[in-house]
Amino acid sequence: MKKVMVLTGAGMSAESGLRTFREMGGLWEEYDVYQVASPAGWAKDQDLVLRFYNERRKQLLEAAPNRGHFSLAELETDHEVYVITQNIDDLHERAGSTRVLHLHGELRKARSTVDPGLIYEIDGWELRKGDLCEKGSQLRPHVVWFGEAVPAIEEASRLAAMADVFVIIGTSMNVYPAAGLIEYVPSGAPVYLIDPNEVNMAGIQGIHVIRKAAGEGVDELTGFLKNEK
Ligand code: APR
Repeated sequence: MKKVMVLTGAGMSAESGLRTFREMGGLWEEYDVYQVASPAGWAKDQDLVLRFYNERRKQLLEAAPNRGHFSLAELETDHEVYVITQNIDDLHERAGSTRVLHLHGELRKARSTVDPGLIYEIDGWELRKGDLCEKGSQLRPHVVWFGEAVPAIEEASRLAAMADVFVIIGTSMNVYPAAGLIEYVPSGAPVYLIDPNEVNMAGIQGIHVIRKAAGEGVDELTGFLKNEK
């Protein structure tokens, strides 16, 4: 089966009602990213950071995967699909995708502030001040903040380098190292971009652009992949 590597971003979950970051009405218009998503912000005001992610977790628990998520999961019927996501939601897994790599962490998990290897499932939506790890440290959201390393990038680069087909869905390609994964894609592999808006692809040639929202776009992609077989 062909290896289809799929890089997804916040736009993948937009049709599930979760806000993107940089669009009009996006999260970074309302919140100061360095206050709520950086080690410095955590050091300054843990309550503000916990509140921000608790709000998002509450919304996630009320959200459901959309047509795009389900169509990607269905693609596993006749393709070896790996989803490399920047999203911290679990909508790919809930839709049935079996190979999902989270680059920026997972919203429904918390981790120790003294030992990053200590990771816990969060029961419900709320992570509180005073919720401690087994070593007695305050638990923090298990997400990658700005300025922090992206531990999964090595695995993601390895996957990108194995792509027979590379697909980019719902990301503005502004954030590195995720946006740099395209550099690892073998030169002969077709690259598809699904996004209803213009995305700066830094002059990379030969990309098949599907100027559609994820739901419709993945169905169109599925048609192309079927014809490529
Ligand atoms: N279907 C597909 N794409 C969509 C849809 C949709 N329904 N709606 C919006 N988009 C596209 C937008 O056009 C935009 O290109 O999704 C993209 C969202 O871009 P960003 O908001 O920049 O989100 P993303 O690229 O995922 O951000 C990367 O930055 O803020 C950090 O850690 C956070 O993982 C995030 C990273």
